[in-house]
Amino acid sequence: MKNFSTSTHSSFLLRYFGMSMFAGLLFCAKPVYAENEQLTKLMLTNNCLACHQIDKRKYGPQFYEVAEKYRGDSSALEKLAAKIKAGGAGVWGEDMMPPQPHVSDANAKIMAELIMALKPAK
Ligand code: HEC
Repeated sequence: MKNFSTSTHSSFLLRYFGMSMFAGLLFCAKPVYAENEQLTKLMLTNNCLACHQIDKRKYGPQFYEVAEKYRGDSSALEKLAAKIKAGGAGVWGEDMMPPQPHVSDANAKIMAELIMALKPAK
């Protein structure tokens, strides 16, 4: 009896720990705006997190910087949506972004919009 209750307890703890790690990964951008949450989910399902974070430079540029760079550029949405699918190089340094053919046109457009809507916490 004692053993039984100990093991349920620890597997509950493990599961709880696992879930908070996952939530932490999803929502580590602070403060969490609704747009960031939606963008983070899309980044997760479209495999962008391997190279990008919203608020930290990784292999690719952080998305706050991308938003800043193109602020006021009326063609930015189209350019970014196209680049999200086609990849490319030469804008942020030596590294190149490989094409992302798994991303749907609709998701590329939504992510471009969400990136351009980012406002860094000051
Ligand atoms: C293998 C790594 C990698 C993956 C995966 C990746 N990127 Fe990139 N991304 C890069 C690199 C490197 C750059 C910088 C390219 C350059 O300098 O032109 C970049 C640049 C960008 C830019 C800025 C483009 C510009 O011209 O200023 C956006 C927006 C972007 N990525 C979005 C995404 C999205 C959305 C995804 C997921 C569908 C994604 N990336 C997946 C590496 C990656």
